[in-house]
Amino acid sequence: MARLTRQNNNSNSSRRPAMPRVIISAAVSVDGKISLAGGRGSRSRARMTAKLSSASDMSRVHRLRARCDAILVGLNTVLSDDPMLTVRHARAGRKKSGGDDADAAAAAGNQPVRVILDSMAKIPPASKIITTSPRIRTIVAVSGAAPERRILALRRRGAEVVMMGRKTVDARRLLNHLAKDGIRSVLVEGGGTTNWEFLRRNLVDEIVVAVSPYVLGGGLRGAVSLVEGAGFPSVSGSPRLSLRSARRLGDHVILSYDVGADNSGDGNRNPSRAGARM
Ligand SMILES: NC(=O)c1ccc[n+]([C@@H]2O[C@H](COP(=O)([O-])OP(=O)(O)OC[C@H]3O[C@@H](n4cnc5c(N)ncnc54)[C@H](OP(=O)(O)O)[C@@H]3O)[C@@H](O)[C@H]2O)c1
Repeated sequence: MARLTRQNNNSNSSRRPAMPRVIISAAVSVDGKISLAGGRGSRSRARMTAKLSSASDMSRVHRLRARCDAILVGLNTVLSDDPMLTVRHARAGRKKSGGDDADAAAAAGNQPVRVILDSMAKIPPASKIITTSPRIRTIVAVSGAAPERRILALRRRGAEVVMMGRKTVDARRLLNHLAKDGIRSVLVEGGGTTNWEFLRRNLVDEIVVAVSPYVLGGGLRGAVSLVEGAGFPSVSGSPRLSLRSARRLGDHVILSYDVGADNSGDGNRNPSRAGARM
């Protein structure tokens, strides 16, 4: 399975590596929620992606993961879901990686790199991501404000810790760092705050959402939307999405959009956004 990259890279013979292709992927309810109400970091909302996805949709997501060099999430997603962020229900590279075979795939170096946005290095050492970091490459991106002892504790457990900003993690700087490390595609798997950060900074090439057959509501009680943050000031000021594909998967609908097309309706003017078809 070919890995995804951003097209039109390095055409000016610059030695600086091109920014990775960034794809936001999420399962959303019909009303655009990616979590139940209950407050951020609550474990009662655990594993929302799995709950909103069907079995066949999970295979689709894992096939998409297998085509990316890295999978990135924000800290709250780790606190809520305690995910593994591995390829399990699909083939990772050439190696079969279903269920427990994920470990074999990981040992063979086929798993995407896992990247966590975590300004203060608060990711629990007992989380699945950290306990498996000796076997599956894991990068925790922190800020200069992260306590040294937590950074050392994470490193001792096998995670790479990189400092990517003064008080919070600078997403653009992180992508540049990943590019220098040979990472050419990053699958951003949420949550809403992380999705907003990448969209607000114009770092996203593509959005893939699985609209699941549920309605969750709960905005007043902290249910998280696909995109959180302050929001764009106007419709015309929001990124213009161009529908690439819409397909039915049982009662789910998989929508795939290119990000960054202009508003004139005459196509995608930004060639760097015209990436590989999936
Ligand atoms: N349905 C789905 O497909 C799906 C997928 C993923 C997640 N979810 C759900 O989404 C919810 C979590 O979403 P969320 O919006 O609360 O949080 P999030 O995006 O998972 O994590 C946000 C946190 O990441 C840290 N961070 C560090 N640098 C950042 C930066 N530059 N930009 C953004 N975040 C940065 C911040 O914590 P610090 O300041 O401490 O660093 C921030 O509070 C969970 O309930 C999870 O279940 C659903």
